[in-house]
Amino acid sequence: MKSDVKLFENGRRLDGRKPDELRKIKIEVGVLHRAEGSCYLEWGNNKILAAVYGPREAIPRHTQNPLRAIVNARYNMAAFSVDERKRPGPDRRSREISKVISEALENVILVEKFPRATIDVNIEVLDAEAGTRCAGLTAAAVALVDAGIPMRDIPVACAAGKIEDQVVLDLGKEEDNYGSADLPVAISPRTNEILLLQMDGHLTVEEFDKALDLAIKGCHIVSEFQKKAILEKYRHIPKEVG
Ligand code: CDP
Repeated sequence: MKSDVKLFENGRRLDGRKPDELRKIKIEVGVLHRAEGSCYLEWGNNKILAAVYGPREAIPRHTQNPLRAIVNARYNMAAFSVDERKRPGPDRRSREISKVISEALENVILVEKFPRATIDVNIEVLDAEAGTRCAGLTAAAVALVDAGIPMRDIPVACAAGKIEDQVVLDLGKEEDNYGSADLPVAISPRTNEILLLQMDGHLTVEEFDKALDLAIKGCHIVSEFQKKAILEKYRHIPKEVG
């Protein structure tokens, strides 16, 4: 979508970022005491809570898979998370995001270890400012680690996009609204396998390659934030006395 809104000035974006710069990220692990695992994540002005329950017996029984666990991610936007109050409850968009996140997580969780079980992953968007599916998946991955769910790797997501003919990392709200493409990507950082790839807008093949490359680089940076937050909770450093 072309527009008159100026998204670049002197090589800097509206919020002062360089083209390959991420918004600020803050991750906290184990914030809810009833969930098996949880994570609170801030990414720019996105605020997201992820809570993991299970593995537990899948009910009703006809949903059970005798060979593996089912991963049931539920992405939900709070009514107050967006400018115009969002009608509570699931809609087409949240169902789509829940589906793609469930499938991405299913590919890294060792689901075959838990036949007939379900692993429920709740993703609550409390404050939304573009890029919530990436932020939600990233928070869910940390909550899964906190819950002790065995995984091949800690999945991570980040988007790249195009604004004013430039490929940039991690679109903000105005960039998402007035830019010309958005490319959310989730990977397994150890292998660079792609777990989720969606695209909104239009890119040339060259721009697509560049954006994919940039999104993967972003994923690796976000992955470091995930690992640091997990280590902070689980590394018991003896306190110095005196
Ligand atoms: O959040 P994400 O970029 O993954 O998904 P999107 O469908 O591209 O939505 C982009 C942004 O639009 C969201 O992050 C919200 O800030 C906003 N949005 C909104 O204001 N109202 C909605 N009902 C849905 C999205």
